[in-house]
Amino acid sequence: MTRHLVTSALPYINGVKHLGNLVGSMLPADVYARHLRARGEQVLYICATDEHGTPAELAARAAGLDVEEYCRRQHALQADVGARFGLSWDHFGRSSSARNHTLTQQFARRLEAQGFLEERETKQVYSVADDRFLPDRYVVGTCPHCGYDAARGDQCENCTRLLDPTDLIEPRSAISGSTDLEVRSTRHLYLLQSKLSDEVRAWIDTKADWPVLVTSIAYKWLDEGVADRDVTRNLRWGVPVGRPGFEDQVFYVWFDAPIEYLGATWEWADAAPPGEARDWRSWWWEADDVRYTQFMGKDNVPFHTISFPSTILGTREPWKLVDTIKGTNYLTYYGGKFSTSRGVGVFMDDALEILPADQWRWYLMANSPESSDSAFTWELLAEAVNKDLADTLGNFVNRTLTFTQRRFGDALPEGGEPGELEAELAADVGRAVAAYTAEIEALHFRKAARELRGLWAVGNTYLERREPWRTIKTDPATTACTLRTAANLLRVTAVLSAAILPSTAERIAAALGLGPADLAWPGGDPAAELARLGPGHAFSVPEVLFRKIADEDLIAWRARFGGPAEAGA
Ligand code: MF3
Ligand code: ZN
Repeated sequence: MTRHLVTSALPYINGVKHLGNLVGSMLPADVYARHLRARGEQVLYICATDEHGTPAELAARAAGLDVEEYCRRQHALQADVGARFGLSWDHFGRSSSARNHTLTQQFARRLEAQGFLEERETKQVYSVADDRFLPDRYVVGTCPHCGYDAARGDQCENCTRLLDPTDLIEPRSAISGSTDLEVRSTRHLYLLQSKLSDEVRAWIDTKADWPVLVTSIAYKWLDEGVADRDVTRNLRWGVPVGRPGFEDQVFYVWFDAPIEYLGATWEWADAAPPGEARDWRSWWWEADDVRYTQFMGKDNVPFHTISFPSTILGTREPWKLVDTIKGTNYLTYYGGKFSTSRGVGVFMDDALEILPADQWRWYLMANSPESSDSAFTWELLAEAVNKDLADTLGNFVNRTLTFTQRRFGDALPEGGEPGELEAELAADVGRAVAAYTAEIEALHFRKAARELRGLWAVGNTYLERREPWRTIKTDPATTACTLRTAANLLRVTAVLSAAILPSTAERIAAALGLGPADLAWPGGDPAAELARLGPGHAFSVPEVLFRKIADEDLIAWRARFGGPAEAGA
């Protein structure tokens, strides 16, 4: 039997993530993991915070904390808000863990032994005033490409081009602001990606089934020529290089971060409850029975299609390579950039202050920027919540159970036989289940959400055709059958909706008194699925599932978060 390994790009430690981060990586990974579990598959869903690099050090400095304490607190915050968003990680680790230190150093040694890592002389920016080298974001200056005057040493935020600190015009230290900078020679370790790029290309060539978004980015990088990469930095915070002459260096964050996918799996095994054996290596080493799917925003694709595969291939050891990469475009805030550093957009903790997680999960999956970038707007959010959730799903659940209870009491009524309309309903349900399953397993989340919405609509249409509120006066037996059938459709709805709407599905399941055995995937004969819960099955009526978003809410939220005028400014 296949085992499924699912990872989402590791969120940077600095700050709670915004909806743009969530929609591309953690949320689709969670929906996919939940879906596979619901189908009875064996799943391991791994995530962790990405803790090294200059952003973490600079954020800790700004917060007045030492970087270790800063990361400890931020990890706890992200774990908490992720859990409240319903992210069902099997483990949420930390790239600063001892396990990742061990593995990162081991990979480096092995790569060197195989001839894919070597020491080279390089020129780095040195700050006389700060008495240290200034890697990456520790230098700011003017972008040589677009003239933006606050470009960072690793990348220009304005034109998004990758930079080297020595490229910057009029550079200054991000620590002291000093312009007394020199370029000094030093020795760093380089990952010889150029030697592996043909192999990487041949591997990508076998992935004809990957999304074009992903393969086109990979080929673009390969076609431009993959450069060898400096994988060490003059920093204290990180995985020590552990080699004579490198006492002041750690590995570059993009070298150790993907290795933390393995590290976090090891941490997951360390966290096994007494009596449960967890073999982390079996998920990664000679793991031919594992199907590995990675989720990420498009900016992460080069690292996961070129750099990390080079790290793995270069070991000449049987570590697991990814089987499928799901890349996602950007969610914008009214067309502007969500930005952690500038605080633009909606962050996960703020989001949960104004609406429950399921409303956000639905909105984000139904509007996922899969085929192109797409804009978050409060108006679209209101439409998703009011029309899809309240009017379609919520209405179907509440009208079915309220009416049944009012007319027949707290158990499903007896009487009547399925007729032609029920046969048509069964056919519609069978089609919807098949279509939803196919889309979600193809990682088409927006289309999967559309199929799910279609299933909810089928429920309402069925009630409107049967009109139990009318037939109750003349034909109680047929009415009983209608309501039993609708209640069974609610069961199917709850099971199918659970990956995207976990807490709503739980509330529907609780109202229907469903136990674990009743949550079986409705993949069988649809007519039988619609007759599973028989007469006498007890139920209760849940509270209204979704409160509608009112115009006053929109006014308040736009004022709080900034509307179109402020966004992107
Ligand atoms: N922290 C990175 C980002 O948010 C993603 C790292 S993914 C990993 O863009 F694989 F390198 F960990
Ligand atoms: Zn620029």
